[in-house]
Amino acid sequence: MNITIRLQRFDPETEKPVDIYQEYTIEISEVATVFDAIIKIREEIDAKVAMRYSCRSSICGSCAIKINGTAKLGCNTRLIEVAEDGGIITVEQVGNLPVVKDLVADFKPFWDKIRSVTPYLKTDGPDPKLERIDSNDSMSNLLTAVNCIMCGCCVSDCTVLKVDPTFAGPAALAKAWRFTEDPRDSATSERFATLNDADGGIWDCTRCMKCVEVCPKEVAPMDRIMEIREAAIKAGHTNTPGYRHTESMYNSVKKNGQLDETRLAIDSAGWTNIPRLLDLAPIGIAAMHKGKLPPILPHKSEDHKKVKELFESVEGDAE
Ligand code: SF4
Ligand code: SF4
Ligand code: FES
Repeated sequence: MNITIRLQRFDPETEKPVDIYQEYTIEISEVATVFDAIIKIREEIDAKVAMRYSCRSSICGSCAIKINGTAKLGCNTRLIEVAEDGGIITVEQVGNLPVVKDLVADFKPFWDKIRSVTPYLKTDGPDPKLERIDSNDSMSNLLTAVNCIMCGCCVSDCTVLKVDPTFAGPAALAKAWRFTEDPRDSATSERFATLNDADGGIWDCTRCMKCVEVCPKEVAPMDRIMEIREAAIKAGHTNTPGYRHTESMYNSVKKNGQLDETRLAIDSAGWTNIPRLLDLAPIGIAAMHKGKLPPILPHKSEDHKKVKELFESVEGDAE
């Protein structure tokens, strides 16, 4: 097939380094991958294109790039999947990580976040003579997260990391889940406390699903984050803005059939958390000036009784 690769280039050694796009048109088999196409460009047209790869078999995780705006592994994305004959494919650096050169990203922030969740087993008591053996079921349960190849696709496209670099992010939280679920680990409570309380922890995920969509190994990081939330709540870690926010939303919709935004803000901050409540005051005043202040006393929706019945029916099923 005939294909044009529109490649994002960045050279830190130029006088004023900026991103530019260069187009390369090549003839290549339609079953070739996007990385085969870039390798061909590098071998036949422009030897200076910088890229990172190793296994070319979706195992090493080093070839994550953006293809037509979405993070993917260059080595397992076939050209035919992303363009027609004669089409253009835009290839860019992964998002949310600094760029070293062209398609090569600096993964230090990625690894710092992985390190921040203590990604190893912590155990009590004397070491066993041989191994710490557990049941097959408990180990099979870990397979989703264990399949992670640390490619960074999820981090690249995480919508929260785009606006808040302090968020631990999907890959690190999926790794954290792997240890909170491991029956051999004895630091679960400590892990919950950190992941639950810390700015940038489990409650900062907005459940946008992006990490689930782009992960090439079906780790489904968002699902893992939701499981940590659930387990942390069950273990009694509920004194956090994140949990209070969720509980307030649940209670107000159940009671009024719609969200009570005033109460949601106060519940999330904590009724006795005066500094945080004072922080909210300017937001309230600005909202009032724009005519956007939610009602002090909540309104009930016309269908609030029906909504309550739905809640009760679901709660009944869950018991
Ligand atoms: S679901 Fe959460 S962790 Fe995943 S991409 Fe969205 S905000 Fe990030
Ligand atoms: S969770 Fe998936 S997308 Fe994220 S680093 Fe691991 S394998 Fe890559
Ligand atoms: S080169 Fe190893 S995953 Fe693509």
